[in-house]
Amino acid sequence: MSKSPPPGSAGQPTTVVLFGATGDLAQRKLLPGLFHLQRTGLLPDLRILGTSLDDYDRDSFVAFARKALDEHASDVTEEQWAEFAAALFFTPGGSPEALRAAVEEAEQVNPGGFLRLHYLSVPPSAALAVVRTLGEAGLHTDSRIIMEKPFGTDLASARRLNSHLHEVFDESQIFRIDHFLGKEQALNILAFRFANGLFEPVWNRNMIDHIQIDVPEQLGLEQRASFYESTGAYRDMVVTHLFQILAFTAMEAPTSLDPLSITEEKNKVFRSMLPISPDDVVRGQYSGYLAEEGVAPDSETETFIALRCYVDNWRWAGVPFYLRTGKRLAEGQRIISIAFKEPPQSMFPEGSGIGQHGPDHLTFDLADQGKMSLSFYGKRPGPGFRLDKLSMQFAIAETGWAGSVLEAYERLILDAVNGNHTLFTTAEGVERLWEVSAPLLEDMPPVRPYAEGSWGPNQIHQLIAPHTWRLPFERIWRDKR
Ligand code: BG6
Repeated sequence: MSKSPPPGSAGQPTTVVLFGATGDLAQRKLLPGLFHLQRTGLLPDLRILGTSLDDYDRDSFVAFARKALDEHASDVTEEQWAEFAAALFFTPGGSPEALRAAVEEAEQVNPGGFLRLHYLSVPPSAALAVVRTLGEAGLHTDSRIIMEKPFGTDLASARRLNSHLHEVFDESQIFRIDHFLGKEQALNILAFRFANGLFEPVWNRNMIDHIQIDVPEQLGLEQRASFYESTGAYRDMVVTHLFQILAFTAMEAPTSLDPLSITEEKNKVFRSMLPISPDDVVRGQYSGYLAEEGVAPDSETETFIALRCYVDNWRWAGVPFYLRTGKRLAEGQRIISIAFKEPPQSMFPEGSGIGQHGPDHLTFDLADQGKMSLSFYGKRPGPGFRLDKLSMQFAIAETGWAGSVLEAYERLILDAVNGNHTLFTTAEGVERLWEVSAPLLEDMPPVRPYAEGSWGPNQIHQLIAPHTWRLPFERIWRDKR
């Protein structure tokens, strides 16, 4: 039996077998995303076979999907909905035979003509059981599999998961998803750095003072207490999304956009990272966390983390990268901020305003409707020589492209259908990140309380001193609309 995937192409009939189909991610992102791919003709011939351990049947799954679209998709016409609803199927989780029969039933209009994409939107602890079921059902051949993060919970479990996974699926069939890599603005980091001659020459330790990757969230647990209790902010966000974004920010120019070249450059960054020292980490837990349903009364899971890390190579030696993320914080933002070194001397007199608003910054906002800003000092009009912080800004929303933005999951599902691995993580990369994390995971600093709606525990200021966190922004983004 061949394990290699069939050639895929956008537009080809596709069956998405969605495990965890009644969960939070399916509701917020996957079902609305699949709907959008069908409606825009990017995946016109689609079957979605939902499966989960919750008590659902086809009718209640269709009702679940309708609610998901009502809440998370816009401008759904009745005609579009009817087409989407007709593509939905459901089978309760568990038996391989029942799963296989349900897939065949969903594909009966064109047996053998569908590309199968198994999407595992399940917690790490459930992933292997699903992989085995797929193998026993014979659904592994000629198919692809998307695995959700976190991929394992430490180095040993990630290695185990990879080796069991390889008993059933070939590496070429596996797509380890990290949706931050599918965000338009994350890809724009690559365009910005490598499609211009202007910025790359200053992209190094000589010109850059430090870098912040800051992803505070206002969101709380959103019915994901059991998942979150077993992961916490570090495994949920840092070892996954924030480190992947760090790799795009720090990597050398790849020789081409193909998966091998990009992956190799990212893995070089991961190999150069110094192990994370517990002394460089602040963990926090928001004040109402222990009272949340599904949370252990003595839980030490962190809902917040801030850390300092280093990429110890020729380009970045000595440049600190500050990362922060957490739940129930003051604002929801996803920014990368590059702080440039200040001029070595100033001819401007005291009181001119030089340096008063920190160094020059280049900032990427990773929202779907992304933005970029370059801030610098300039002269205020009028007599004398007073300086102020000015900025050049770009916002997707102000261009004619706003409607073409693909949400990250949509983009990545489409890439997986196309067999394109460029924006997916690899076993080697993931395992190295767990290796880098080992000193921290073995000796986690205590969780410190922080108030909901704040920016985290007070210790975050000591961590970054003598610098300061960019967020909250002192000046708001311009909005020309
Ligand atoms: C997910 C995490 O991967 O990313 C969530 O599990 C988090 O806890 C989410 O809220 C953030 O993603 P986005 O795209 O909304 O910034």
